[in-house]
Amino acid sequence: MNIILLGPPGAGKGTQAKRLIDAYGIPQISTGDMLRAALKEGTPLGLEAKKYMDQGALVPDEVVVGLVKERIQQDDCKKGYMLDGFPRNVSQAETLDRMLSELGQTIDHVVCIQVPDEELVKRLTGRRTCRDCGAGFHVMFDPPKKDGVCDKCGGELYQRDDDNEATVKSRLQVYGEQTKPLIDYYEKQGKLRQIDGVGSIDEIFARIKAVLG
Ligand code: AP5
Ligand code: ZN
Repeated sequence: MNIILLGPPGAGKGTQAKRLIDAYGIPQISTGDMLRAALKEGTPLGLEAKKYMDQGALVPDEVVVGLVKERIQQDDCKKGYMLDGFPRNVSQAETLDRMLSELGQTIDHVVCIQVPDEELVKRLTGRRTCRDCGAGFHVMFDPPKKDGVCDKCGGELYQRDDDNEATVKSRLQVYGEQTKPLIDYYEKQGKLRQIDGVGSIDEIFARIKAVLG
């Protein structure tokens, strides 16, 4: 099963993806995580991407398309995969359609998680992520047992550079202008599955599972 997780920054795509990996046994492919990993390693690609990410802008299409193309052809993607944060504009979606048809693959479901803007700002500014294992937390909504320490691996929790209020505002604007048109794009393909993203993490997980079967 090939899935796209669509939704604004902070909608809970990464949070739900981590649970879906266990439930469906398919890997999460997050372009955001891949770019942050490249930056951590200090590769030229990572350093170039940082300029865009710090402003809340989209990294150029050719960079992310190249990453995804290579990743979906790896062995662990044979049974399916979850794309998280890709595609992010109509041009990326069209490229993905072409890429998949060349590979004889298709997208089965586009899960679109909807959350109002004011809630997104609260979620993003309170988000904390583990430096070592990438687990996500929230200072109020999903706090770790010990302040600043990951429950899963004991790693240090940090706040993403792009989770400050000013960058969050531009990310939300970019989402509205460039990514939201994908709702229509996938609706026309009959693949769109709208999910109300307000509620507990468990409730939203149950809604997604009900849709995926
Ligand atoms: P990316 O890393 O993809 O970030 P994003 O899309 O902005 O999404 P987030 O990771 O911020 O949100 P999420 O929906 O995963 O939320 P989460 O589950 O963590 O992209 C970052 C940047 O990389 C982009 O700005 C761009 O520059 C670049 N980029 C990436 N892909 C690209 C592409 N394809 N093309 C071009 N550029 C690209 O949840 C958020 C918080 O809320 C957490 O703290 C969580 O604990 C909490 N939470 C989750 N669910 C709930 C709930 N139900 N109730 C309460 N709190 C909750
Ligand atoms: Zn950890």
